[in-house]
Amino acid sequence: MEGDDEYRRKERVALVVIVVVASLALASLLVAFSYYCYIRNKVSKRLNTPKSVNREEKGESGKLEVATDNGLQVFTFKQLHSATGGFSKSNVVGHGGFGLVYQGVLSNGRKVAIKLMDQAGKQGEDEFKMEVELLGRLRSPYLLALLGYCSDRRKLLVYDYMANGGLQEHLYPANGSNSVASKLDWETRLRIALEAAKGLEFLHEHCSPPVIHRDFKSSNILLDKNFHAKVSDFGLAKIGSDKAGGHVSTRVLGTQGYVAPEYALTGHLTTKSDVYSYGVVLLELLTGRVPIDVNKPSGEGVLVSWALPRLTDREKILEIMDPALEGQYSMKEVIQVAAIAAMCVQPEADYRPLMADVVQSLVPLVKYNRSTPKISSSPSFHASRSPAFPDKVGD
Ligand SMILES: Nc1ncnc2c1ncn2[C@@H]1O[C@H](COP(=O)(O)OP(=O)(O)OP(=O)(O)O)[C@@H](O)[C@H]1O
Ligand SMILES: [Mg+2]
Repeated sequence: MEGDDEYRRKERVALVVIVVVASLALASLLVAFSYYCYIRNKVSKRLNTPKSVNREEKGESGKLEVATDNGLQVFTFKQLHSATGGFSKSNVVGHGGFGLVYQGVLSNGRKVAIKLMDQAGKQGEDEFKMEVELLGRLRSPYLLALLGYCSDRRKLLVYDYMANGGLQEHLYPANGSNSVASKLDWETRLRIALEAAKGLEFLHEHCSPPVIHRDFKSSNILLDKNFHAKVSDFGLAKIGSDKAGGHVSTRVLGTQGYVAPEYALTGHLTTKSDVYSYGVVLLELLTGRVPIDVNKPSGEGVLVSWALPRLTDREKILEIMDPALEGQYSMKEVIQVAAIAAMCVQPEADYRPLMADVVQSLVPLVKYNRSTPKISSSPSFHASRSPAFPDKVGD
């Protein structure tokens, strides 16, 4: 009898164990199945999202700003119209060869500069295409980022906003405006020279094949709120030759006063043509003078011809210095920067240095311990932009 009871008890225990194990197995199966369904749902949702829309944002018009393969956003005309208050005059911050430049605010609060292309014109179309194709691919802290573009109704380019505008506005007084010209101090000028050199170095030596800017000048060096420089405007850029020292033949484009002599004469374009233009900008930083000034006395109107013989003459070198810089530099620094400028503007292209050499020579002169520069008077930039800058060649 006792044996029977014991047997039944064991049987009951076994049954309970079997039921518990079976329920646990069933529960785990259910959990696994629901997890599988959840993952499947997630994956199919992702697959159903259009590939091109990898970053999206609701615009004010309700339309999407679509990120294209090269990471640029495609804006609608309506979005940029509302970002600039209907392209209002009060938002104009400049006017260049491409057209008017407006400041604006996107629906996400980001401050931007928007270039509205003047109506039609083959060169404008080419610049637009080059800017979008090239800038979309190039990324460097020393190049101005293109955020996106619009090509419905009108052609527009959208960039990061650079609060202190073009370098030229800080070097020369804005004629006829009530804004007081702000003179950049020596340290800031050296830092701008270095950052701009790094921008060109990136194009020449970190891109393959190299990219020749072809319109390097002070108005294409833009300054952010802390006066850090970025190189802008690749509309005229040209893909250079892959061969060492090779050139590409092309129509002469660029801006008077900045174009290298061999390029102006023969149309042969190399990275050394940019080095010449860089030398001219370095001279502007040293002297505070424009590259070509027809109002100057004879012999002084062309900056390179006037400055070059003085750059390597210790007795005369101080004659060319911007009077606004007095007391800020040491003779040693001036001699070094003048030597770099003199090499860059050599008439013989082969004697000009590489941008990497220029960067190497400037690095020891630049102090990076200050983010905001001293300026000699309070700026009122963007209030009135002087259009009195050098004319384009070959337009
Ligand atoms: N991203 C920007 N942020 C702030 N201001 C800008 C920006 N881009 C341009 N500007 C302003 O607009 C002015 C005109 O620029 P734009 O590039 O159209 O003409 P440019 O450089 O004078 O001549 P070019 O057409 O030959 O390049 C610049 O000098 C600068 O002051
Ligand atoms: Mg420009």
